[in-house]
Amino acid sequence: MVRVAWPRGRQRTRLRIGWLLLGITCALVSGARASCPAECACSGIVDTEGAAALRVECAAGGLRAVPIDQLDRSAQVLIISAPPKRPNFLTIGPIFTQPVPFSNLRELHIVNSNVPSIGQYSFWGLQNLRFLNLARNNLTGVVADNFRGLINLTVLHLDHNHIELMPSETFHHLPALKTLTLSNNEVSTLMPRLFRMLANLSFLDLSDNPLRDLNPEVFKDIQHLRIFKCRRCLLKGVNPQIFHFVSHLEELDLGDNQFQYLLSDQFISLTRLRRLRLDGNDLPVVVDHMFGRQRELRVLSLARNRLALLAPAALANLTALTHLDISYNKIDRFHLQTFAPVIESLKTINFSGNNLPLNEIAIVLQILPGIHGVGLANLSIEELPPHFFSYSEHLVALDLSWNKLKAFPFKLLSKTRFLQRLDISHNQLQTLDERALERLEAIAQINLVKNQWRCDQCFAGPMLVYMSTSVLNDSIRPLKCYLPLRLRGARFADMTLERLEACPSTREAQLSLVAGLMLVAVGVLAAASVALCVTRRRAVHYYTNEEKRRAHAHDHPEELLARAELGSVATIHAPYTLVGKAS
Ligand SMILES: *[C@@H]1O[C@H](CO)[C@@H](O)[C@H](O)[C@H]1NC(C)=O
Ligand SMILES: *[C@@H]1O[C@H](CO)[C@@H](O)[C@H](O)[C@H]1NC(C)=O
Ligand SMILES: *[C@@H]1O[C@H](CO)[C@@H](O)[C@H](O)[C@H]1NC(C)=O
Ligand SMILES: *[C@@H]1O[C@H](CO)[C@@H](O)[C@H](O)[C@H]1NC(C)=O
Ligand SMILES: *[C@@H]1O[C@H](CO)[C@@H](O)[C@H](O)[C@H]1NC(C)=O
Ligand SMILES: *[C@@H]1O[C@H](CO)[C@@H](O)[C@H](O)[C@H]1NC(C)=O
Ligand SMILES: *[C@@H]1O[C@H](CO)[C@@H](O)[C@H](O)[C@H]1NC(C)=O
Repeated sequence: MVRVAWPRGRQRTRLRIGWLLLGITCALVSGARASCPAECACSGIVDTEGAAALRVECAAGGLRAVPIDQLDRSAQVLIISAPPKRPNFLTIGPIFTQPVPFSNLRELHIVNSNVPSIGQYSFWGLQNLRFLNLARNNLTGVVADNFRGLINLTVLHLDHNHIELMPSETFHHLPALKTLTLSNNEVSTLMPRLFRMLANLSFLDLSDNPLRDLNPEVFKDIQHLRIFKCRRCLLKGVNPQIFHFVSHLEELDLGDNQFQYLLSDQFISLTRLRRLRLDGNDLPVVVDHMFGRQRELRVLSLARNRLALLAPAALANLTALTHLDISYNKIDRFHLQTFAPVIESLKTINFSGNNLPLNEIAIVLQILPGIHGVGLANLSIEELPPHFFSYSEHLVALDLSWNKLKAFPFKLLSKTRFLQRLDISHNQLQTLDERALERLEAIAQINLVKNQWRCDQCFAGPMLVYMSTSVLNDSIRPLKCYLPLRLRGARFADMTLERLEACPSTREAQLSLVAGLMLVAVGVLAAASVALCVTRRRAVHYYTNEEKRRAHAHDHPEELLARAELGSVATIHAPYTLVGKAS
């Protein structure tokens, strides 16, 4: 919607023009047809059909009554809301219909206003009302008479109230209704014929009601339903007859219920289903051919169940599946043939929080070369084998959070060139060397928090340099030091090179610094200076990128290639990247 100017309220006028003009303004406003209550904001909008319309929003809170007398009767959109800490306390009678009805009203919100009940005929005459939002009030019940006259209403929000009871045919005055939200109420029974006349209903949300069971009969009246949600409804099962009535469902969300099993014909009628969420139930197994008729299914979530096994044909016929979430179960192995039907289609898979050894996951990833997103959180991973992602060239998102990684998996990530989101938070990383930092620079979203960052000049020096000079600024600033104890909890954002602890052995670090400077100076003669240092009694490692890269180049020429494509050139940035380390 586009906003254009509209006469402002008294309060704003007062602010703008001052006391002198106030008298004149008041006189004008009280005489004019178009006025705006002091506690509201009025603006001109262009509605969905391109016509000019008036929008009134009263959002400051603390209202004891709707300022109905000052409201312009021509308003098309009226929003009465309140911030959580300053609710309204309102009652609704037939205020919008008497004495002159708001016959242009198309959209009405009265939310967070402690409305205890809706009177009979409250909205009578609002023939143009399409959208009615009464969420977040104190309604304990609704009856048919509340909605009389709303023949063109398409959206009704009654969520976040205390509704316990709705008699049969509660909505039968709303033949055009398409969207009904009743979530977060206290409904325990769906009365027979509750949804009579709602033949056009396509979205129904009953989540967060203590329903325990769903009466199939009720669904007979809403056969055009496309989206049905009943999360946290205390359901132990759903009669398949229901899905026979609402067989056009495209999205079904039954998450966080108490299913202990699924019937073999549970979803047999739902041939158009595209999204199915069964996360947070108690399912111990998914049997063969469970989703045999869901050839259109794109998204399947089975997260947070008790699955120990996916049967070999559990995903049979799911040839359109793109997202599979099996995280937080008890799976410890796979049948490879389980994934055969989804090889071509699958784009994301979440393995997080299972008892899976890495080789089980590696084998599945090998047969899913098109995968874009992989969840590997909470798997107690200490180290990823070198070729773990060799087949996952198209990886875009990778979640490695909540593991026990001690070193940044640089080698692996050099192969996943398209990676754009990496979560490696909650691990045991102590440092990022320059190679790692360079690789990270090419990744758009990175989460590195809650690792064991060592704030001394050797370990954190390069990170600080990147923080102040590169796009990694925002990723590094929020990190906190873990060691030394003196600095634990200090933020990298507040850190300077001087504040960092000296390197573990200062003398050697200085030596290496000198050697490092020599390296820079003599360039190709670096090898010679290394040799010189090696002759010292206690061996000192010069941890330069140059040296590492060369070593790798011998082992893995293909990796060097990849790195070259990533644009990392052998350069020595600053002296603190030369780490003196006693071996
Ligand atoms: C509305 O419900 C809330 C929460 O139950 C309660 O604190 C408040 O007093 C109720 N308001 C009215 C006007 O009944
Ligand atoms: C509202 O519904 C009535 C009856 O179905 C219809 O005649 C009228 O045109 C509708 N109003 C609008 C603005 O669509
Ligand atoms: C139900 O939807 C159809 C198609 O969108 C429409 O033609 C019909 O008028 C609607 N019925 C009511 C009562 O609004
Ligand atoms: C899977 O699809 C095939 C071919 O369309 C069909 O014959 C078979 O019955 C389906 N499987 C199940 C369990 O419905
Ligand atoms: C699993 O990962 C996907 C994306 O990879 C994410 O959308 C989903 O929320 C994750 N599931 C859980 C339970 O964290
Ligand atoms: C991983 O497990 C820890 C505790 O074991 C939990 O606090 C955390 O929320 C889990 N991570 C995710 C992403 O669920
Ligand atoms: C890093 O971010 C901070 C605050 O977000 C900003 O003030 C600073 O200029 C940024 N530095 C660089 C080098 O981008």
